Amino acid sequence: MAPVKVTKICCIGAGYVGGPTCAVIALKCPHITVTIVDLNQARVDAWNSPDFKLPIYEPGLEEVVREARGRNLFFSTDVDKGILEADLIFVSVNTPTKKSGVGAGFAADLNYVELATRRIAQVATSSKIVVEKSTVPCRTAESMRTILEANSKPNCHFDILSNPEFLAEGTAITDLFAPDRVLIGSLQTPEGISACASLTEVYANWVPKDRILNVGLWSSELSKLAANAMLAQRISSINALSAICEATGANIDEVAHAIGYDTRIGPKFLKASVGFGGSCFQKDILNLVYLSESLHLPEVAAYWRQVVEMNEHQKRRFSKRVVDTMFNTITGKRIAVLGFAFKADTGDTRESAAITLIRDFQSEKAYVNVYDPQVVEEQIWTDLAEASPLVPEEQIKKQVRICKSAMEACKDAEAVVIATEWKEFNEINWEEVYQSMNKPAFVFDGRLLVDAEKLRNIGFKVVTIGRP
Ligand code: UDX
Ligand code: ADP
Repeated sequence: MAPVKVTKICCIGAGYVGGPTCAVIALKCPHITVTIVDLNQARVDAWNSPDFKLPIYEPGLEEVVREARGRNLFFSTDVDKGILEADLIFVSVNTPTKKSGVGAGFAADLNYVELATRRIAQVATSSKIVVEKSTVPCRTAESMRTILEANSKPNCHFDILSNPEFLAEGTAITDLFAPDRVLIGSLQTPEGISACASLTEVYANWVPKDRILNVGLWSSELSKLAANAMLAQRISSINALSAICEATGANIDEVAHAIGYDTRIGPKFLKASVGFGGSCFQKDILNLVYLSESLHLPEVAAYWRQVVEMNEHQKRRFSKRVVDTMFNTITGKRIAVLGFAFKADTGDTRESAAITLIRDFQSEKAYVNVYDPQVVEEQIWTDLAEASPLVPEEQIKKQVRICKSAMEACKDAEAVVIATEWKEFNEINWEEVYQSMNKPAFVFDGRLLVDAEKLRNIGFKVVTIGRP
């Protein structure tokens, strides 16, 4: 079967994954028209905003959108038109952890994937390649295929591919420009292999062919969960070791450096922290736990569950260390929290450790000043309200103040807590910060960011993750 030459792509979902991914496809493939559709009017308006105030902050993204938008890249709320015109459709909708029903707290909520799939079946009048881009549990492609086949019009044929996205937020554009690999899973039938070849051709416009891996559908789906679970497990491992360092006098940075020299281990992703966040790690591991339990593999489930439990433990441990160090009480004290995003170079706050820390400080009756260079104020209030559903909004607003700069946040505080590794926190004038704070002035570095010796020389009492 000769592969279909793709000339029109539609991406359903203009979020953190669909937006940057398909913007880069448009940039690298000027001969392909790419339309990104989303039901959320405000989000689409932001993607289309004349002054490029895009809905997500990602270094390099604006330049990509500036070059491709209006040329062969379009953003729209007209989902049906997008579906009708495309030969290939990415499904890139959200798959959050279920909040109720069977598998609540573990399984992925596939409602958005199913609704998008049903829409494709209902609207399409010609054959399509449907690509699962959202991270989904194993065998979701099978469900999508069943829905599409049961609802399609005569002469409409659907091929399903799995093409999980491995970009990390904050480096999405460089990751997309030069991916370690592109993974495409397909059924090993002539039609499946041909659809896979069509998508391979799209990526081959800028990705070397030997980095485009073609595998079976289920391997592709599981590989995405496996990659995230192994990355998260590395962080929980180094964080578990950071607790030993604090108790023994070892230094976690030195330990990470030493073990990273082993070429089998490697130096990346060994940075101890106050805990991992982001939309993927926890969600994907819980998903893997749920899958393992469904397959009657309780020991496997318990193994992966511990990675998330260690992460929760790390956050609790850090809050406790703050309280313990500040003479066992932070009641009535003012704490500056620097950073609210789950990592630097993103405005995303999903599962951010800062949310848990601030909630803990609130319940100790402390006052919190928070500053983040990218997170919008509204998002901070939403996250804090969700974290403490029983606390009235006025109470939260009495205890928490959102500041416009790190300097403003630190003024009159007793302690500074670094929750996100924004580069600018290293560059602030710490002498000036010290002068403006109450004494003794504490710095709690949850990100191994600042030069502790330098700060101690200024007069700060410094507490660092993974150091005694
Ligand atoms: C992750 C995967 O890296 C990516 O491949 C996948 O597609 C989506 O999930 P992301 O969540 O965007 O990407 O960010 P990542 O850089 O992996 O960081 C996740 C969390 O781990 C952040 O909170 C980060 O601060 C933390 N982290 C990362 C550490 O605490 N230490 C490290 O050494 C690395
Ligand atoms: P991710 O981080 O996986 O990209 P996001 O939540 O950032 O997830 O983005 C998913 C997007 O998908 C949201 O903007 C949401 O409005 C959109 N979406 C969900 N369901 C549909 C649908 N059926 N049709 C169009 N867009 C959808």
